Amino acid sequence: EKGGYDHFMLKEIYEQPSVITDTYRGRLHANEGIIQMSGVEDNLEKFLNAERIIIVACGTSWHAGLVAEYIFEEFTRIPVEVEYASEFRYRNPIINRKDVVIAISQSGETADTMAAIKLAKEKGAFVYGVCNVVGSSISRETHAGSHTHAGPEIGVASTKAFTTQITVLIMMALRLAKAKGTLSKTDFHRYLQELEIIPEKVKEALETDAKAKEIAAIFKNTQNCLYLGRGYNFPVALEGALKLKEISYIHAEGYPAAEMKHGPIALIDEHMPVIVIAPKQGHYDKIVSNIQEIKSRSGIIIAVVTKGDTQVRGLADYIIEIPETSDALSPLITTIPLQLLSYHIAVMRGCNVDQPRNLAKSVTVE
Ligand code: F6R
Repeated sequence: EKGGYDHFMLKEIYEQPSVITDTYRGRLHANEGIIQMSGVEDNLEKFLNAERIIIVACGTSWHAGLVAEYIFEEFTRIPVEVEYASEFRYRNPIINRKDVVIAISQSGETADTMAAIKLAKEKGAFVYGVCNVVGSSISRETHAGSHTHAGPEIGVASTKAFTTQITVLIMMALRLAKAKGTLSKTDFHRYLQELEIIPEKVKEALETDAKAKEIAAIFKNTQNCLYLGRGYNFPVALEGALKLKEISYIHAEGYPAAEMKHGPIALIDEHMPVIVIAPKQGHYDKIVSNIQEIKSRSGIIIAVVTKGDTQVRGLADYIIEIPETSDALSPLITTIPLQLLSYHIAVMRGCNVDQPRNLAKSVTVE
């Protein structure tokens, strides 16, 4: 049942190239320049008239929502807010008929997300679901939606659900950008082509496994870990930290890299591993100076870089090389070595990777 893998989590990490393909199959037609998603198509007017998109979710799905915020605003110029469903439901939020609410959930059963959806519906918003489980409570409660096609996710730590959620959300943003004319034709076509070959790049990113294992062996006994990223990769830093804490029980925090100097840099010493997501696209020069700041305080840098990178290589203590893609799609790639790193650390610490203590696969009570 684990398909020859030691754990469901590892199997699910390795399934990502194929489940991303399953998720865009029939929807992404790169050569024709078409994205076909019936849920979006049938409700196009609602999306185009939206004054705002509010994304509600919990945990890893909330991280996918944060990535989507950056993508939707960049591609469609529709203002986006992302909220923890648990906060949204209890704070008397301002919601109206011109709002589109997107609820993201792997299980489709998360109690807080469900309650947020009901509240948004009561206030007259149009609610769109991005769920993995067909027939789940959330897919039934939402007005419309697009499923991710990740297949059953058994490991408690979410992996393939995250990357397939991002895949769906990118396609939605591209479809709306086309309708709104907010992306140039060239960019639109380029993103379609790039998304089509993403599974190949994810496959290549999985080749970091041996390197991740090597690094895991060095840091398996650390008590703390920081994850830094900027832009599209800031949410990936949060997700990397969540994966590490939930399966290895190591204290980890994710930050936007520039926030370091507003406090967390006080934690840096020669015992603090700092994982920096530093692909060539994006805010590369900024991240290089963040790395320098950490090195000058004796922090240990583990950097995720684009293949062939030389500048960060010269600064970092350890590097993990990933294939190049455009900035907006990079979370689909940068997240892979972080999943592998957490996995190996947890295994080496003798943790129950698939069923970490105190956690349940779906949180059906608040
Ligand atoms: C983290 C994890 C949780 C879930 C969260 C939301 O690895 O699995 O943080 O992401 O409980 O669950 P869903 O997506 O089922 O609503």
